[in-house]
Amino acid sequence: MKLFHSIRTKLTLWYTALLGIMLLSFSGISYVFTRSTLSDNLDRSLHSEVTWVNGFIEPKAKKVRLKRSALLELQQLKKSAPAPDETEQISTDSAAVDEIWNQIYQHTILSPRRQYIQILDRNGDLLYRSPSLGKQSLQFTDIPYGWIKVVTTHNDEGRELRIASTQNDYVKILVAYPLDELNEALDGIFSIFLILAPVALLISIIGGWFLAHRSLKPVDTITKTAREISAQNLNQRLPSQAVDDELGRLTATFNDMIGRLQESFSQIQQFSADASHELRTPLTIMRGEIEVALRRKRLPAPMRELLTSVHDELVRLSSIVESLMILIKTESGRLAFQFSDIALDEMIQELTEDARVLASKKKISVESLQINPVTIRGDAARLKQLFLNLIENAIKYTPQRGTITFSVTRENDQAVVSIGDTGIGIPKKDLQKVFDRFYRVKSDGSGSGLGLAIAKWIAEAHHGTIRVSSREKKGSTFTVTLPLSAGVK
Ligand SMILES: Nc1ncnc2c1ncn2[C@@H]1O[C@H](COP(=O)(O)OP(=O)(O)OP(=O)(O)O)[C@@H](O)[C@H]1O
Ligand SMILES: [Mg+2]
Repeated sequence: MKLFHSIRTKLTLWYTALLGIMLLSFSGISYVFTRSTLSDNLDRSLHSEVTWVNGFIEPKAKKVRLKRSALLELQQLKKSAPAPDETEQISTDSAAVDEIWNQIYQHTILSPRRQYIQILDRNGDLLYRSPSLGKQSLQFTDIPYGWIKVVTTHNDEGRELRIASTQNDYVKILVAYPLDELNEALDGIFSIFLILAPVALLISIIGGWFLAHRSLKPVDTITKTAREISAQNLNQRLPSQAVDDELGRLTATFNDMIGRLQESFSQIQQFSADASHELRTPLTIMRGEIEVALRRKRLPAPMRELLTSVHDELVRLSSIVESLMILIKTESGRLAFQFSDIALDEMIQELTEDARVLASKKKISVESLQINPVTIRGDAARLKQLFLNLIENAIKYTPQRGTITFSVTRENDQAVVSIGDTGIGIPKKDLQKVFDRFYRVKSDGSGSGLGLAIAKWIAEAHHGTIRVSSREKKGSTFTVTLPLSAGVK
């Protein structure tokens, strides 16, 4: 998929993945840390609570025989009317005992947490129960002696409790906190992470995409412009970046490179132009001299034959040089086009007449199939050259008594000129190559292989196209399309 070949997507994905991992580990660590801190705190305060109760009761229990709390159990006792209570039998100072429970009760009220305190005697009978417990009791039997044990259990209702316990020679002490609050706090943290993490990720994807998009946008511009730059418009430059960042420097480097290319190109073009130009004059002189020599009547026959052959080659050479010069000028943009409205049908009609004359030597018939009136905008001389090159080929590559056909039609916004022949045709493998410079299917015979290259250049300079369809030994058809003149669309 194209999307995954974009740096933008890759950057965003990397960025999001990293952020995701970071968020996940951050949330995980925070959660675990908070949980252990909270439960450590809880355990510590349970521990100190048990220590306090133990320290408070132990010295007192030595002096007073502890009995059930009157303060809390009184009403209950009345309501449920139990059998004569054991309190009756114990002849201890109940005021002193109540005072002890009272102090523990006072202490419980002062505590910021909701805590449960339950004190049993050595037989496991209830002595004191904090009001927060209501009618419930803390069920825990595995109470250590002389040290404090902290464990998690469940109460009668199945709620989680953290319970700390110890026992001494007189009492068993149990202090507990419900874990609901702690769990609620942890659940809260967990939900916050659960909601925040996706939101943060989403924001980061959008933000990352936007940032990557913004910073890579110049790359698209550079790519687009670079794609448009070819040998014909080497004077074009990439839009320069105002800032001296990586892309700015890349653009500057690219532009420097194009500059150097342009220089080398124009040097080569200049050299080719000069060379062709320099060749032209001696060739013309040689041709002239041979023509003069051939005019002599008393020329020995072998000599005449030789000179004629040399003359033919010179004509060929001249035409190559001529074509080369046109090509170089076209490529370097030095060939000025003079655009005007042209009645293409009339031009083809005239060319058909020329073709008839040229073709008569080989007894080739020339036919106009369909000539519709079409006006285009173009350079008349160049277009004539284009069609002449095609006509020349059609005649050259069609055997005696063949046929050449012409047609000019209009298709949508295009003028279409077709020149067909019943000639030798072009092998399939060569079909696209015939428009290359110097390409010829058979290298024997006359011709330089430049005619179609020039035709293509001229068609393209008119924003048109040239195509060929051909079958070997049956014939070829060259089709030129040119945009219609804006006035007649
Ligand atoms: N109508 C045609 N029928 C068959 N082959 C053709 C036709 N037109 C072109 N070709 C093939 O394409 C090749 C290239 O054509 P092109 O006109 O560029 O060069 P050329 O005719 O060989 O030389 P010149 O530069 O003198 O035109 C030719 O050598 C020929 O093999
Ligand atoms: Mg040709």
